[in-house]
Amino acid sequence: MKFAEDFIFGGATAAYQCEGSTRAYGKGAVSWDEFLEEKGRFQANPASDFYHQYPVDLKLCKMFGVNGIRISISWARIFPDGTGAINQQGIDYYHDVFKECRKNGVEPFVTLHHFDTPIGLYKNGDFLSNDTIDAFVKYAAFCFEEYKDEVTYWFTFNEIWAVATNQYIEGTFPYGEKYNVTKAFQAMHNMMLAHAKAVLVYKEKNYEGKIGVVQSLEYKYPFNELKIEDIQAAKNEDVLQNQFLLDATFLGEYSCETLEIANKLASLQGGKIIIRDEDLEVMRKAAKVNDYLGMNYYQSRFIQAYDGENDIFHNGTGEKGTSRFRLQGVGERMEKDGIDRTDWDWLIHPESMFDMLLRIKLQYPNYKEIYITENGMGYKDDFEDGIIDDTPRIDYVRRHLYYLLKAVESGVNVKGYFIWSLMDMFSWTNGYNKRYGLFYIDYESQKRYPKASAYWYKRISQTKELE
Ligand code: FCB
Repeated sequence: MKFAEDFIFGGATAAYQCEGSTRAYGKGAVSWDEFLEEKGRFQANPASDFYHQYPVDLKLCKMFGVNGIRISISWARIFPDGTGAINQQGIDYYHDVFKECRKNGVEPFVTLHHFDTPIGLYKNGDFLSNDTIDAFVKYAAFCFEEYKDEVTYWFTFNEIWAVATNQYIEGTFPYGEKYNVTKAFQAMHNMMLAHAKAVLVYKEKNYEGKIGVVQSLEYKYPFNELKIEDIQAAKNEDVLQNQFLLDATFLGEYSCETLEIANKLASLQGGKIIIRDEDLEVMRKAAKVNDYLGMNYYQSRFIQAYDGENDIFHNGTGEKGTSRFRLQGVGERMEKDGIDRTDWDWLIHPESMFDMLLRIKLQYPNYKEIYITENGMGYKDDFEDGIIDDTPRIDYVRRHLYYLLKAVESGVNVKGYFIWSLMDMFSWTNGYNKRYGLFYIDYESQKRYPKASAYWYKRISQTKELE
């Protein structure tokens, strides 16, 4: 099985997770700084010190056949207060990074927002506030113009689903709020609106590049495929996540089913999700000119129908195996025999990625290109005598690449794959012991060591052939 000659074998990163120097070189504070301090948790400093080590990391990319890198720009390095005055040092920094990318033949794929809203805007309601939408669009327009000669591939947001549900339902991201479904869906809609506005700004200026959004998708299967209630529940879960995200991206609207379930959930809390006609108009226009989808794909879900009382306040525990919503007919996540899991209990189910890719092609014939912008395996890598044998990770990636190629054979236009992550880095909720990288980082010395997976990835990228 062969990859196309121009296939991107990428490595993914995110500013807050790898740069370090979170309060240096003129950078403003972001939502995560205080949140992590308050929780007394691990800090994102020095993380993988990408701020200083990027020449080393990009050289490693070149040496190991990684021909694309996902980088996010830290909004607060460009606009320390989110809007208003610029920080020239931050602007220059990314020019230097992009130059280094070119020098090493590594194509940068640049995300504008990867979970790190500047603190002033965050305190003012984050994406629930129109001010943040406006500020985001200005920041995006600024970056498009500033980096137009260096960046060809743009993404507006990373995983609006993850950020909104973790912020307002799971409570694991700042603000740490729980079970507020209304806010979560409102935030997602508002981010899609901000995305759409940024896309239109980009297209109006006729830049020579491409733009899209990164969504996190998870195929939902019925726990018992012969039980009608589970089939319906899996469908409902799908409607809330995958269909919400894909409709918004490719059609610029939401289906009746999505609106019905989301509004039912919101109304149980006395809330209401506000979606204005003029928002949808903007979103529809953007969907028509959107160039690609970035798809982060880690796992699937097996769903059993919930048949208790509707109760999303007290029983919506978010615990493993229970529904976060507890709405009749919506699902509870169940463990499924015969499906492997990572040490962090993420399902390893590569064929579900194939199902998702095919589904996009069939359901959204107007999609143009797809990049797998994240996929990979969190693992407790052992460092022994300079050797890091991460065979399970190789296996994970190989199986996903196999199904990616199968999808390509079936006619899905997948242009590249970015392993999460290029090197080990700070994990939002697990700190530093959950490692994902092709390159191992000794956080004390900041030295990089290629893992077995890096050598394997290099071979695939060079031969274009999956062993
Ligand atoms: C995704 C995030 C990324 C990383 C991986 C493990 O949800 O986009 O930053 O934390 O999960």
